[in-house]
This record gives sequence, structure tokens and C-alpha cells, in this order.
Amino acid sequence: MDLAAELKEMKKNNIAHDELKGKNIALIFEKTSTRTRCSFEVAAHDLGMHVTYLDPSGSQIGKKESIEDTARVLSRMFDGIEYRGYGQDIVEELARYADVPVWNGLTNEFHPTQMIADMLTIKEHFGRLKDIKFVYMGDARYNMGNSLMVTCAKLGMDFVACTSRKYFPDKKLVALCEEIASKTGATITLTEDVEDGTRDADVIYTDVWVSMGEPTEVWKERIDELLPYQVNSKVMANAKESAIFMHCLPAYHDLKTEVGREVHEKFGLAELEVTDEVFESAQSVVFDEAENRMHTIKAIMYATMPR
Ligand code: CP
Ligand code: NVA
Repeated sequence: MDLAAELKEMKKNNIAHDELKGKNIALIFEKTSTRTRCSFEVAAHDLGMHVTYLDPSGSQIGKKESIEDTARVLSRMFDGIEYRGYGQDIVEELARYADVPVWNGLTNEFHPTQMIADMLTIKEHFGRLKDIKFVYMGDARYNMGNSLMVTCAKLGMDFVACTSRKYFPDKKLVALCEEIASKTGATITLTEDVEDGTRDADVIYTDVWVSMGEPTEVWKERIDELLPYQVNSKVMANAKESAIFMHCLPAYHDLKTEVGREVHEKFGLAELEVTDEVFESAQSVVFDEAENRMHTIKAIMYATMPR
């Protein structure tokens, strides 16, 4: 985070930092992306590196060539590999067989690069991470909920998953986070009660109710079960006056997206996990967060690239 802040400052002051000149990285995306891909590309260019982008259909990976073989081939050509895909086991297998750094650009289970950006954003805003009541609303069993719980536990924050019981994170992961929390001073709370859960919060965070790779059929149950956990003005009013709203993006807050319009046609809802009012409010820091993806991904690559 400190390195990211330093690199951000350098970029703002037009100070060159192309110290990884001559290196090449591969970006494998088995799922689509705007922020993560652009962050890796711009960050790599700023560091002087070259980038090869492999889109969800543009390579042999998984279909004609195993992850194990792909890892060994790409390690002969590249100095680092980013991978966004499905199971966490796939990126771990890639890392096991590659002999260059492998960066996790999102799996079903975790989204680690997003974490450094989110925590940098909170630190920039409040000047600290300790004693921050961080509330995650929505599907807390998926990549964002899991990674945020782990990160808050490691950084000594007060993490609350405020959602329907069915969407509480996996028990084993909760137990692991509680163990980490006992050493860092963090707290982990799981609650179905919106008023209790969001009271005096510093950060209210949410994510889409249906993630990439999930079948569209689940929209109905997600809407039925997660609508009570929508981030709206009532939730924000229950948090601290100084509270901020965060979202990894993309977000369904209006009818300006294809999916948003489809869901609206079927279920009659014009805004989903967050209302347009909250998304566009002065409390919303979502675009600072998006910008920080680039500075933090740059720091991650810089810190892990062998020289
Ligand atoms: N937040 C995030 O990972 O966005 P993308 O899916 O656009 O990369
Ligand atoms: N949970 C979302 C995060 C997108 C950045 C997804 O996996 O689609």
C-alpha cells in the first residue's frame, strides 16, 4: 500500500518509473474485465514493460492445453503472468508450474488485487485502517466477500457481513479469519440485522448479486433474498455521517446497462445492489477506488518482479 501511494505520487508528478524496462508480462482473462485488465496494462506500460493479452477465447488454455503445460510454456517467454478465471485451484496450479510470478486477477473465491486498492482508498480517506467498522452487504460467500473478510482480519479492522444467513461466508474461512483476528485485534461479525449491522459504520461496501460465470436463472432468488440488503439512503443514514460507500464495480445502479435493463424488464427493479442516489452521492468513493486499482497493481508487480 505504501509503495502504491509512492508510485501514485510519482505518476501525478510526471516522474518516470519505468524500472522494469525490457520485461514482458502475459494477461490471461477467462472472464471479461475493464478495470483489472486496464490497470495491468497501464501499470505495465508505466513500468516500461510489454504486455500480451489473451482473451477468454483467444488461446488454447484449458481447451487444448492443460494449465500445467501452459504455465511451463508461458514461463519461457514472460517475466510474469496475470490470471483471471474460475476456480482458485486453477490459478494455484498455474502458480505451481510457472517459474515466474503469477498474479490473481480474480477467481470465484478471491479477488486479492482489488483488496490493496480498497484498503489504500480507505486509508487515503480516513488516514487509518484501525478501528474502521467495515460492513459488507450482499453475497458474502463469493470472491469479494471472502477477500474483504480476510483482508479486514489481517489489518485489524471490524468486519461485518450483513446479509441473509444463506449468504454468510464459508464456516472454515470464517474460522480462519477469527484466528487471524485474535492476533490483529480485528473482529468478525455475521448478522442478518440491517439496523444493527450497519449502525455507526465507517464503510458500507457491496458488490453485484450475480457474479461472472453464474447462471442467469439465479437472479430471481438473489433479488428475493438480497433486496433487503440493498445499499440505499436508509442504510447510509444509519451509518456514521462520515461514512463512505464502496463497490468494486461494475455496479447495477441504473438502467444504462444491458443486464440492468433485462433484470428491470423481468423483475421491475431499476436499481439493484445499490441505489443510484447512493452511488452518485458525495459519500461514494467508487471512482477513487477504481483509479487505485492501477496504482496498487503497479505496486504488486513492482514488488514481486524478480530483478
Ligand atoms: N473490479 C473489477 O475487478 O473490475 P473488472 O471486472 O472491470 O476488472
Ligand atoms: N463478484 C464480481 C466481482 C467483479 C469484479 C464477479 O465475480 O463478477
